[in-house]
Amino acid sequence: MNILLLGSGGREHALAWKIAQSPKTEKLYIAPGNAGTMTAGENVDIKADDFENIGKFAIEKEIDMVVVGPEDPLVKGIADYFAGNPVLSDIPVIGPSKNGAQLEGSKEFAKKFMQRHNIPTAAYRSFTPNTLEDGLSFLETLEAPYVLKADGLCAGKGVLIVPTIEEAKKELKKMLGGMFGKASSTVVIEEFLSGIECSVFVLTDGTHYKILPEAKDYKRIGEGDKGLNTGGMGSISPVSFADKEWMKKVEDRIICPTVEGLKAEGIDYKGFIFFGLINVKGDPMVIEYNVRMGDPETESVMLRIKSDLVDLFEGVVKGDLDKRHLEFDERSAVTIMLVSGGYPEVYKKGYAITGIDMVKDSVVFHAGTAKAGNDTVTSGGRVIAVSSYGKDKQDALQRSFKAAETIQFKDKYFRKDIGFDLD
Ligand code: AMP
Ligand code: GLY
Repeated sequence: MNILLLGSGGREHALAWKIAQSPKTEKLYIAPGNAGTMTAGENVDIKADDFENIGKFAIEKEIDMVVVGPEDPLVKGIADYFAGNPVLSDIPVIGPSKNGAQLEGSKEFAKKFMQRHNIPTAAYRSFTPNTLEDGLSFLETLEAPYVLKADGLCAGKGVLIVPTIEEAKKELKKMLGGMFGKASSTVVIEEFLSGIECSVFVLTDGTHYKILPEAKDYKRIGEGDKGLNTGGMGSISPVSFADKEWMKKVEDRIICPTVEGLKAEGIDYKGFIFFGLINVKGDPMVIEYNVRMGDPETESVMLRIKSDLVDLFEGVVKGDLDKRHLEFDERSAVTIMLVSGGYPEVYKKGYAITGIDMVKDSVVFHAGTAKAGNDTVTSGGRVIAVSSYGKDKQDALQRSFKAAETIQFKDKYFRKDIGFDLD
């Protein structure tokens, strides 16, 4: 099979690494990819949301399947673009329709969907500039801290959690006043939930689903989960509290009603669903849906899938996912993200990266890297994800830390406490 994977981050390198291992893969292209994905396949200089050129390339190279990494092309409707175009409609896309992608593209859509299907989530109301006064009064009825979410995609920056009512009111006015442009013309205000988070992933063909290994990510820049939010500083799988009993609750109360709800509403959904969950006193609740895999969770999750991912994708396309095989690797997997000094604020790019070749006991996934002549250089905030297996969490962590020290670039930073809050 000829496969085209869209995206350019650590998640896509991990997907490419896994796809390339499948005996079903003849040729793998990654658009646009990074300096790491070119070791798993061939990079193509096309942006992940340039539908016209992606379509042309797919025909020219006789692509049999398009796998979408990031949310942007999905929310913009890449699956519909292929399905609605006579010369492209035979090429399956792993990723939901534009309608299905609203689960991530609109917080209000997601909240209403969960309400319709009795899926446990925080109580909420949504407001627009016309109902600002109601929003300010609603805040008065809640207890601190206050959770305000821009309705649309904001590259992970659209959620504010503020400690005082005064700040909450000020931020609500700013958001509805255009702080995030169109994305915050509707704002969801919701109840604050207290607990520990876990990311659960499923792959669905629209009827059946397979639950992939769960993971926990670490979003804050500082140790002990302090400081600014980032795209993710590391991940770990399995998650100790996500035991059989808890996962059964997740499946019965959240996964099943979601997949059945999508089907019942006639929403075409063939792809990944990422459930951002929080464990509230033993009960899972949904914080958010994403319509793709997580980053940096994927870098750990791919290590824990023993089966052929392309075979599972084929099951998604053919609608017989229930007949496909999914086996987990029982080992632990841990990912440590090496980031540019200064990230997530101001940082420099273009520093040479050395030592990758010397890493033997870990899998090195590139996130923000590029080629400059023969050198691999930093080209983003999150630069390299080092993922390792281990017989347990501690064992896996040790390998990743060793690799994190071996790989060098100027002003490198990483968190040394990934997994600190789990048994
Ligand atoms: P999101 O951008 O939707 O992933 O939200 C960012 C983060 O905000 C989540 O990972 C949670 O840590 C936190 N968060 C979002 N909603 C809530 C909530 N209702 N209660 C507590 N924390 C929340
Ligand atoms: N790691 C969280 C995300 O990918 O949104």
